[in-house]
Parts: sequence; C-alpha cells; structure tokens
Amino acid sequence: ALELQAQKTEINWILLDECGSTNDEAMRRLTDGTESPLVVITRRQSAGRGRLGRRWHSDDSGNLMLSFGVRPDRQPAFMQRFTVWIGLRIAAKLSALSGASVLAKWPNDLLINGRKLAGILTEARLDADRMRELILGLGLNVNSAVETWPVEVRSIATSLSQAVGKTFSMSAVAALVISELANAYHDYIERNIEAEMNELWAQYSAINHHKVTISTHGGDISGEVVGMDASSALQLRLANGEVRTFAAGDVSLHDS
Ligand code: BTN
Repeated sequence: ALELQAQKTEINWILLDECGSTNDEAMRRLTDGTESPLVVITRRQSAGRGRLGRRWHSDDSGNLMLSFGVRPDRQPAFMQRFTVWIGLRIAAKLSALSGASVLAKWPNDLLINGRKLAGILTEARLDADRMRELILGLGLNVNSAVETWPVEVRSIATSLSQAVGKTFSMSAVAALVISELANAYHDYIERNIEAEMNELWAQYSAINHHKVTISTHGGDISGEVVGMDASSALQLRLANGEVRTFAAGDVSLHDS
C-alpha cells in the first residue's frame, strides 16, 4: 500500500495491473464523474504514449507510470505553464530524494547528467475554451532494467537507480511523486507561484544559460536560453542579439 505524505488535498487513486495508457484511463474516469484529483498508476501499459506521437517503453517493472487528473475549469494557456511547474517541482523532490542532480528540460522532460530520466505528457479536454479535464502523465525510470534497453535508448536515457547505484522502493517514490503532484497543483491553483517558479527555474532548469536548438513548426533555431516569461514561454537570444520567445517546441542541448 502507498503511504502518502501529508498533502494539502485528498487524492482519489487507482492502482491497475495493466492498461492501455494511464492517461486514457484517467481521462475516461474523470469524464465519467470520478472525483478529482485522481491518480491512476499501472504496472504495465500496452499503449504507453509520449509526446509527438512517440511510444513510451512501458513493460518494465522499474518504470513508474502514472497519470494525475484534475478539473481545472481554466483557459487552455493554463496547461503548458502547469507542465513546466510540475516538472520543476518534481525535479526538486527527486534531487532531494536521490542526491543526484535532477534537472527539468523545458517543457516536459527530467534529466540526470543530460540523459532522460522522465517524461511528462499533458492532455486536456476543452469545452468552449474552458479546460474541463486535465491529465498529466508521468513516466519515470526508477529501477528500470537499463541494460536490457536498446543501445540507442541506453545512450540517451537513464534511471534513478543507474544514476545513484542503488535500488529505490517503488512505492516510496510513487508516494513522494503523488504527494508532490497534489501539493504542486494546490499551490498552482491557490497561490501566486511566480517567485517560486523563478527560483525553481534558476536552480533546476537543465537549459537556462545553455546553447540550444529549438525545433518548431517554422524550422530549427539556435540560441542561448536567457529565461522563461510569465506564460512559461522560452526566451532565446539568437546570434544577432535578438531575443525571441517560443511558446512550444522540442529543445536539444548543445554539448557544453
Ligand atoms: C514524453 O517523454 O514524451 C512523455 C512520456 C510520458 C509517458 C507517461 S507513462 C504514464 C502516462 N501514460 C502514457 O501513455 N504516457 C504517460
């Protein structure tokens, strides 16, 4: 059983042995009227999804797969900023837990030593420009069998246990992550998070002050990350000195 740390909100959580995607399960249950906040965790996923139509490797018992579902009743712009906020809060928690430096790569990845530790997939159902259901799915490599991964994955991904050299309790990590999701959501809704967001960004961003290339619909653009604005759009200084803002895109770090 999961022992959840004291959190600010009561969580309704469901543990499954197997499902297609926890994001779909959470969305279906919320639209069917299940109380929010809802957490769906599974041991295996047959159709785990990543961003941009990618697959999420989901048949590994060391991989924590869960979705957090809420009914925010806010504007759609809420979503990207929420994803960034959650990524930074979880990075801070996992850094404290593991002793490794876990950093958040805008907008939705967690990295250790430049390798992917976790991914976030946020999805929402809108109705007349209001966000009815919002699902944040997290895939986190805790004790994953890294040695069994294909070599092209092994070179770009890692797990908490690989980074630190010990095995973690899956239920303890799950409890920590779930409590933090609920607390971070509560803070996001109830408080002005501006100052804390900036502090977390300064401490836990993997890309701040780094040279990156961002792939957007308009093509690839390189520059130095100089910050994030209030809507959580990324600010890049280009070679000509101009600062441009990107609401979305896929970021790759240059070697430094
Ligand atoms: C990414 O890195 O592109 C995001 C990966 C998100 C994977 C998680 S696993 C739990 C939840 N269910 C899914 O189908 N995807 C997310």
